[in-house]
Amino acid sequence: MKRCVGIDFGTSNSMIAVCREGGGIDIISSESGKRYLPSVIYFKNENEAVIGDNAKSMQLLESEHTIANIKRYMGTDMLFPLYGRGYRAEELASLIFRKLKKSFVDYCGETEADAVVTVPAYFDHYQREAVRSAAENAGFNVLRLLNEPTSAALFYNNIGKNTGDVCMVFDLGGGTLDISLIEMNEDCCKVLYTGGSTEIGGVDFDVAVAEYFIENFRRQHDIDLKSDPIAYQQLLFQAEKAKMELSSLNEVNLVVPYITVTKKGALHFKETITRETFDAITSSLTKGIRNIIENLLESNGLKTDDIAKVLPVGGASRIHSVRRLVSDIFADKVRKDMNPEEAVVSGAAVNAAMISGVIKDKVFYDVTSHNLGVEDDNGNFEVILRKNEVYPVEFSMIFTTPELERKNITVHVLQDMAKSSLNIGNSLEENPEHFASLGRFSVELDENDESEPLIDISFMIDESGIINVKAKDVHTGKETDFTLRLKIENEILDTLEIF
Ligand SMILES: Nc1ncnc2c1ncn2[C@@H]1O[C@H](COP(=O)(O)OP(=O)(O)OP(=O)(O)O)[C@@H](O)[C@H]1O
Ligand SMILES: [Mg+2]
Repeated sequence: MKRCVGIDFGTSNSMIAVCREGGGIDIISSESGKRYLPSVIYFKNENEAVIGDNAKSMQLLESEHTIANIKRYMGTDMLFPLYGRGYRAEELASLIFRKLKKSFVDYCGETEADAVVTVPAYFDHYQREAVRSAAENAGFNVLRLLNEPTSAALFYNNIGKNTGDVCMVFDLGGGTLDISLIEMNEDCCKVLYTGGSTEIGGVDFDVAVAEYFIENFRRQHDIDLKSDPIAYQQLLFQAEKAKMELSSLNEVNLVVPYITVTKKGALHFKETITRETFDAITSSLTKGIRNIIENLLESNGLKTDDIAKVLPVGGASRIHSVRRLVSDIFADKVRKDMNPEEAVVSGAAVNAAMISGVIKDKVFYDVTSHNLGVEDDNGNFEVILRKNEVYPVEFSMIFTTPELERKNITVHVLQDMAKSSLNIGNSLEENPEHFASLGRFSVELDENDESEPLIDISFMIDESGIINVKAKDVHTGKETDFTLRLKIENEILDTLEIF
């Protein structure tokens, strides 16, 4: 039997773990001996890609050949140009999965593996599909995609922390915010509600601080450091350093000698940043986080008293203003007995063990994070399946058209609240970016049939949160399958050597 691994593909760092027979979890170290692999890809030339720590070191000098935060682009059509070729996000992500696969092979000598791969609960259909195709392209047989906060909860529950209470998993990673309310029982975790944003993460704090540095430098020297890629990358690194050190210190000093050269000589970058300044610079982000927490509670009729415990997950949950915000709302309910960076991958390994039978008699239920719907005749979003619905789930609806002369029925399927659970509204015209289009499905009608056209469209959300659509002509019984799957077909990837 193949081993089943747990994989946390992160915006900043990726991890792979397995659950041993006795239930203990092994986090598999990367080549450089660390328990995590930085999710950074560096193209040394057109045939060689370096992944992880060594790629991160090249980010500074060769930013045009280095790609970080690729998870943020999953499910988009963006092309990344590298040595004259364009790569899609899932193709680049597959290189990270290949590197994890190498660590797995080094760890146990086996070349095949089933996998549970985690995704932000807030990922929509195509973002999920992009992750799955990247993992499969790297040779993992993906058994399911598991929502990251649910994964952390499975781990927490498995180390005997079950109480029968409702816990809030607060997961702020490098690139995403996921908040899930989960009822924990000894043998069952039940996700009740979920909310979040794929536009708030640790990197956004770095960008805000770097912008502040750039503005200060411009004021002092009338020089725009942003137009110099090396200087800008240095400032992003300094911003991240400041953010991390301010988690434990009140004030930090930052220096980059020779950040730029002018006619009058070299200039150095020197800043002192306090917690107070950091808070002011990043206040729109903390406000966004607060709004998402409050909206999740309010829209589901809950009060802070209904939450028994808060589990902080993700490296960015360590940011001092974020910690303060969470403890302002939930006081002493915030737990510190779980490693925020390792909980997600450990939970994925627990789920892998549940699937392969190593862990028995435990179950969990998860819920959808977006409303699923169709575009109506007025260009508005019409919900057909509300969010927070337990999945897997299957349901169908009959569609028709009033004009008999029409030759086909087209149904535009969408998910709403794209990117953030605060993106509420039903007009596609006013806020097109609040909707993720899954496709326009067209069914040809029988021109000779005079009766009212009736098309039965069924929607299936599988255990990975991935949607499949089927249509059936009620009169003729003819079925059409609409594929919403992504397949990586770039043969260049197979010729790349991975280091
Ligand atoms: N001590 C710290 N204080 C503040 N921030 C920190 C600290 N340690 C790590 N971080 C931040 O945490 C983020 C990375 O966290 P993590 O590894 O959990 O993210 P990820 O899993 O890669 O991202 P995501 O889950 O969003 O895809 C980075 O933005 C990093 O700067
Ligand atoms: Mg994460």
